[in-house]
Amino acid sequence: MKPIATGIETSKNRLGFQTACTHGGDHWNKSGHLSPPICQSTAFEFPTTSEGAVRAADIKADEFYGRWGSRNERELEALIAALEEADDALCASSGLGAISMITHAFLNPGDHFIAVHNCYSETKILHESLAEQLSVDVTFIDSSDIHHYKQAIQPNTKLVFAETPANPTLSLVDISKVATLVHEQSDAVFVVDSTFATPYNQKPLKHGADIVVHSATKYLGGHSDVVAGVCAGSTELIDKVRHKYSFHGPHLDPFGAWLLCRGIRTLGLRMEKHNENALKLAQFLETHPKIRQVFYPFSESHPQYKLATKQMTGGGGMICFELKDGMDGGLGLISNVKLNKMAVSLGGYASTITHPASMTHNLLPREEREKGGITDGMIRFSVGIEEYEDIRDDLSQALDKI
Ligand SMILES: Cc1ncc(COP(=O)(O)O)c(C=O)c1O
Repeated sequence: MKPIATGIETSKNRLGFQTACTHGGDHWNKSGHLSPPICQSTAFEFPTTSEGAVRAADIKADEFYGRWGSRNERELEALIAALEEADDALCASSGLGAISMITHAFLNPGDHFIAVHNCYSETKILHESLAEQLSVDVTFIDSSDIHHYKQAIQPNTKLVFAETPANPTLSLVDISKVATLVHEQSDAVFVVDSTFATPYNQKPLKHGADIVVHSATKYLGGHSDVVAGVCAGSTELIDKVRHKYSFHGPHLDPFGAWLLCRGIRTLGLRMEKHNENALKLAQFLETHPKIRQVFYPFSESHPQYKLATKQMTGGGGMICFELKDGMDGGLGLISNVKLNKMAVSLGGYASTITHPASMTHNLLPREEREKGGITDGMIRFSVGIEEYEDIRDDLSQALDKI
């Protein structure tokens, strides 16, 4: 059993991970209904003038105005804080919305920011455009090597970013080493995008990160039916982000928060099956004659296998592999799968397959893609929770056809 603080009764109370998924945030549901009601109201009647003033001054009020959030958002935030073992959490209308608010919260003109090449392509595009708009000096690095962080850090560095495992290459960042470096040499905030790992497999805050962020659209939601983002950290840092968020307004609606809470109730169970299926599939693909290389953090052939087993408790559901037959092979494979769906996004219950060079990362020119390690024959596979043999057989028949 993975022990975890639930945030339900006291901070000393520790329950297993799946128990926290089931009960985290429960205290926000005061209705007596087992399934919490969805509060769609955008405004609330104040019993007295002084109560109105109290709620107006409380940036976390659940019955003030819809953009501040309702009980559904507060329940979700308490659930995320419990899973990440954080003081507090904040939900947003997308993963990029959460990353954007963090960037706005900690950067001012003249500051320096360390961002990364090897991450989700639109995070990189967002960081480029925000750095320009905010008149911030940005250094983009390959985050898999700690030396690049060492070389990039400056006295005015205020924000340092990492995505681990990275989308789509599954390269890793040594969270505790980067955290130590950042905290010794600057007063920057170190942010880790842990979308691929989920709190089931990795807890960046425990390794020294200041803020953990997720595209909750992926494993946290788990059902491919809600776009959302979350971040978690200390009360002080999350309050700073919440402040920006309340005025910029990338608010997650109550139904989205409700769907996300419902998805997270089975996160531990789903991740167990994702981990098991992906490890078996990686081992199968490693022996396939049409495949040049497989990247899976818990596979011994992964160049950062030791680091993976140090900071993660499971390899997750994402596999990346490179076909010998380049672009033609990539396009051929994704056109021939049947059970495994050709689609972008990831982390849902169903297996999905993506060809990054022509799909998720086609907004980047080839040389930019290559800087991020994305080759023409690369395939990203989000291994679902179907029976392993069915996933493997479908992929195998599609590989036979290229
Ligand atoms: C690792 C990672 N971070 C952030 C995002 C952005 O999340 P969203 O699409 O929810 O805005 C994605 C989207 O694919 C992602 O894979």
